[in-house]
Amino acid sequence: MIKTISTLRKSANMFSDEQLQTFSKYNAQAASALREERKKPLYQDAEYADLDWDNLGFGLTPADYMYVMKCSKDGEFTEGELSPYGNIQLSPSAGAIYEGTKAYRNENGKLLLFRPDQNAMRMKIGAERMLMPSPSVDQFVLAVKQTAFANKRWVPPSGKGSLYIRPLLMGSGPILGLGPAPEYTFIVYASPVGNYFKEGTAALNLYVEEEYVRAAPGGAGGVKSITNYAPVLKALSRAKSRGFSDVLYLDSVKKKYLEEASSCNVFVVKGRTISTPATNGTILEGVTRKSVMEIASDLGYKVVEKAVPVDELMDADEVFCTGTAVGVAPVGTITYQDKRTEYETGDESVCQKLRSALVSIQTGVTEDTKGWVTCLN
Ligand code: COI
Repeated sequence: MIKTISTLRKSANMFSDEQLQTFSKYNAQAASALREERKKPLYQDAEYADLDWDNLGFGLTPADYMYVMKCSKDGEFTEGELSPYGNIQLSPSAGAIYEGTKAYRNENGKLLLFRPDQNAMRMKIGAERMLMPSPSVDQFVLAVKQTAFANKRWVPPSGKGSLYIRPLLMGSGPILGLGPAPEYTFIVYASPVGNYFKEGTAALNLYVEEEYVRAAPGGAGGVKSITNYAPVLKALSRAKSRGFSDVLYLDSVKKKYLEEASSCNVFVVKGRTISTPATNGTILEGVTRKSVMEIASDLGYKVVEKAVPVDELMDADEVFCTGTAVGVAPVGTITYQDKRTEYETGDESVCQKLRSALVSIQTGVTEDTKGWVTCLN
């Protein structure tokens, strides 16, 4: 039997009349929905649910209702409502551990994928750190190929952009305590993209963050998980509001060494030496980072992975960023402790040479001698 307003008021005398009216109206609808779902009446005269109260552990025993309230972009939560406890609809674009790879269309209309096996391996390593199961490399690559091919009409014409493909892995099964989820879901979706930064291909202006850190030694900063992106949003939004393109983070212990930017890895050029922060568990092992290091070595540059002191930014010739989304992006200025340093950019820059070499391989302009590109059609 549905509870009456007076019963509700007795059991919870904090509700207003108006709230109780709404609740009561809701109960009538919800009860019928729940009868469908649970095949048993929701509201009973019984004061207690039918449970072994003496043996409660911390396993999930969902109570009848959950409260759902959504927030729009303006930051306002609209009025929420109770609904029967149950699965919620979630956009695939709400990430957990995720990857990013791209499909390109070459001048002959062929679809090319760039190193999806590397993303598969990175997801595996990340999943191990987070105690999640992950698809095999073959399963991952097959899923990426199928998604790219099925969405081929969304791959931009040659030179106009790429199809960004996002494989992601999330715990999707119910759990209340701390532990691995009882079920995981692997999803791959895709979206056509152009330049990541609003600057387009123009040089970026970075800000070195000294208050907020991105990751700490022993943590999961090396995992491409949403847990590494959420903590940067505050610093990033502050820097953007001051006109910067992105934020460069420092190591969390001494605040002396470069880590990475919010969205990409970083490289510092001095003469023919290119340095980049070593991957020690606090920065992401970018697929673009690795590819650019190999291309730079092939072109005769000395590539050094090390702890890069932030002070080296002061007399660097060039700085550039790499990432799947970002590509290879030149940095025009970096602001550190109120001092702004400018860097060389332009067609003759090391950054531009590396960018052009990489894009030529990705788009099939240069022959792929490394086995990095997979043609889909
Ligand atoms: C990528 O480069 O693929 C990323 O996921 C970076 C993200 C900030 C969009």
